[in-house]
Amino acid sequence: MKKKKPKMRRNIATDVVHGKQILTDLKTRALSVPIYQSAVFTFESAEAGAAIFAKEKKGYFYTRLGNPTIEAFEDKMVYLEGGEAACAFASGMAAISGTVLSICNSGDEIIAVYPIYGCSYSFMVDILPRWGIKVIWAKSDNFLTNVRKSLTKKTKLIVIETPVNPTIDIIDIKATAELVHKNKALLAVDNTFASFYNQKPLDLGADIVMYSATKYISGHGDTVGGVVIGKQDFINYVKDYTIRDLGAIISPFNAWLLLRGLRTMAVRMEAHNRNGLEVARFLEHHPKVSRVRYPGLTSHPQYQIAKKQMLNFSSMIAFELRGGREAGRKLMNSVKLCVCAVSLGDAATLIEHPASMTHSSYSKQALKESGISEGLVRISVGIEDVHDIIADLEQALKHC
Ligand SMILES: Cc1ncc(COP(=O)(O)O)c(C=O)c1O
Repeated sequence: MKKKKPKMRRNIATDVVHGKQILTDLKTRALSVPIYQSAVFTFESAEAGAAIFAKEKKGYFYTRLGNPTIEAFEDKMVYLEGGEAACAFASGMAAISGTVLSICNSGDEIIAVYPIYGCSYSFMVDILPRWGIKVIWAKSDNFLTNVRKSLTKKTKLIVIETPVNPTIDIIDIKATAELVHKNKALLAVDNTFASFYNQKPLDLGADIVMYSATKYISGHGDTVGGVVIGKQDFINYVKDYTIRDLGAIISPFNAWLLLRGLRTMAVRMEAHNRNGLEVARFLEHHPKVSRVRYPGLTSHPQYQIAKKQMLNFSSMIAFELRGGREAGRKLMNSVKLCVCAVSLGDAATLIEHPASMTHSSYSKQALKESGISEGLVRISVGIEDVHDIIADLEQALKHC
């Protein structure tokens, strides 16, 4: 009997380099996806143009409605994340607002985790009510109970981040999906802090995954972009209406930079994961630090959930200094290697103060209610040598 050839199983580290196929441009056999920096694609004939517009024939005609470089990025994200289809956006905020506006109508309600990234918060507080969409906040501690209390017949969508920005709380994706689906609503997960390398929300039951691709996917802090992955019908709607008519497309060059970022994602994420844990352990034992939140520490209140749903713990840490806000200010002014800056997932270690920076759109009361204290510092641990990062934090902490 002929022996069956074993099915080759590839590892994620291979997948991020090659995607589904090594050569994405089979015409030229270019190894790197070419940048199709063209707004317009010509028609062979008037009939061919009409057939493309009528969707009887596949073809490119205008970059806002389709571009080969952007599609190569979307295809690779589908391959890496799972799911049926993807749509790239100009930024993470475009991906989040585009998702919500694609799903919700006037009169619908959404439930969102509290806290949430500052601009997601202001989008939901300042913009959505103008379109008749009500937002109900569910605090991240005791999240499931809070969601259960808030679900109504009008609930269309639940939006979560996990780990939560900036408090690094962990939300149980599987349990949330089960609860939400019983109510016939959808669950969208902003997976920016974990990345697909460490967490796969679709496998845990989520309906939609959203990213600020500006962060770990880019990895180099040199481009802004976003992406949404989900069911084919949903992505068709997003492309055919939301992207087409609101127009928040990514540029071919930025999509190409994200493709380039993906190729090194495995080695970068391994370094981020390793350094994140070491820096968290260092901070946890430092006498000037009163509290550390990192999902890989057993002291994290939701460590068991993190362990269950994350493959590894990424490099986002929140911590409080005993000296409060003033000590945090001194720390950020005293670092020499770490950089005082917002954003995250960069090769460089970035340190910031959420209350006055990424979450400054929150009122004083909202900061208090959502658990973002004045003394909270957020660090995105980079891929430098971890001894250098720790030595820098150690010398800076002497000033606090
Ligand atoms: C969790 C999270 N989601 C979304 C965004 C928005 O992404 P972008 O800046 O690419 O619009 C950010 C930005 O920091 C973020 O931290």
